[in-house]
Amino acid sequence: MSCTIIVGTQWGDEGKGKIVDYLTEDADVVVRAQGGHNAGHTVIADGEKHVLHLMPSGILWQGKTCVIGNGVVLDPASLLKEIDGLAEKGLEVKPSQLLISDAAHLNLPYHRMLDAAREAGLGERAIGTTRRGIGPSYGDKIDRSGIRAGDLAYPDLLAERFAAKVRENNAILMAAGLETIDFDTEVAVLLDCALRLQPFLANTPNFLHKALAAGKDLLFEGAQGTYLDIDHGTYPFVTSSNTTAGGACTGSGVSPRAITRSIGVAKAYTTRVGSGPFVTENEDFGERLHGMGREFGATTGRARRCGWFDAVLVGYATRVNGFDEIALTNLDGLDGLERIKLCSHYELDGGRLDYPPSRIEDYTRCQPIYEEMDGWGVDTTQARNFEDLPEKARAYLDRIASLSGAPVTIVGVGPDRSQTLVQ
Ligand code: GDP
Ligand code: IMO
Ligand code: MG
Repeated sequence: MSCTIIVGTQWGDEGKGKIVDYLTEDADVVVRAQGGHNAGHTVIADGEKHVLHLMPSGILWQGKTCVIGNGVVLDPASLLKEIDGLAEKGLEVKPSQLLISDAAHLNLPYHRMLDAAREAGLGERAIGTTRRGIGPSYGDKIDRSGIRAGDLAYPDLLAERFAAKVRENNAILMAAGLETIDFDTEVAVLLDCALRLQPFLANTPNFLHKALAAGKDLLFEGAQGTYLDIDHGTYPFVTSSNTTAGGACTGSGVSPRAITRSIGVAKAYTTRVGSGPFVTENEDFGERLHGMGREFGATTGRARRCGWFDAVLVGYATRVNGFDEIALTNLDGLDGLERIKLCSHYELDGGRLDYPPSRIEDYTRCQPIYEEMDGWGVDTTQARNFEDLPEKARAYLDRIASLSGAPVTIVGVGPDRSQTLVQ
């Protein structure tokens, strides 16, 4: 029995999909416990590129069970689009392979419309959401007025609850002078989706408890990253779920005592999409990466903002998530640089910080304190073992480990599964 949590250490897009895919070989069950189709996880399997949003990456393997846990907000149409997309590629998703928690909350068209309306209303202070309705879906959950996936099995009840929510939200949209939802069209879509998704519904905490009791190996695929966490992130420029390790437990019903391993996935530099402070942001470095065709969002296609590695963020994430190890991806993105900067501390009001202050106004004023290291100048994409890496690249890994408080045990030198070095 093992229970491994994979968590993003930065602002998402660290390469979690690739690392989960790599570790799935040794797992029986892959679980998504939070977030929704705001996530975009890229996996290159057998030379083919897949971008998964709600579907756990384990679906690309034969003989693995995937679970969408109670902590996820699920857009039924979006999940079916993924299922159909996989079927077109010859990957049929059967109910025996995918279990959807009946306690997961549904993400419905009015959530998307409210998200867009709120963003537009914020003007320059917009969060830069993925406009997938994530905030309003979790809002309904916390407000105790959401519709849960279990209702997909009861069409009459589902239609009745949906009608009430459409009435409520149409009043809000109308008052704001915005387009409203056409109930007849949307309820027909929802009922069609319900019919197709019913066979996948299950009491997933119970399934996971039984799997653990049977000695199975579980892998939790985190979505987003530590600094998008609703509690620990750069609020309000965050998503609406707990992206940190605790979210894996509350979002699945697996006890914290069952967790055996916690791995933080970090890029060898830092990226962020959407608005909000970014202490080590560097436009020249970003242009260099974009020029190489890298760092465009997997969900929205937006160019990601880029900057140097920030050990304040990754170190604090190690403490919040209890990382045993760090998987460092995209080391190859630094190939060819003469000098590499790495932020060890922040300076704020004349003092030094090794943690990000929680008030956004303070965080925005933090200045990076950098260390500089020599670059390694050569291509690392052909490396297959730690020993193949140039000495200067290994020195960079050592420095990251010592500043972050956890050993770097996995390194990515390219998007392919084979470009994963393990120590
Ligand atoms: P996720 O959301 O954390 O799963 O990450 P994304 O898939 O959104 O973004 C990570 C991007 O980096 C994807 O395009 C991956 O294919 C790519 N990637 C992951 N690891 C590596 C690596 O080690 N090197 C390179 N060059 N690309 C990588
Ligand atoms: P993965 O799982 C990167 C960001 C959005 C925005 C903020 C809030 O691929 O790492 P939301 O739509 O969630 O209300 O947007 O969070 N965001 C992500 N950034 N990777 C993600 O997922 C993200 N999911 C949300 O850009 O800044
Ligand atoms: Mg992503």
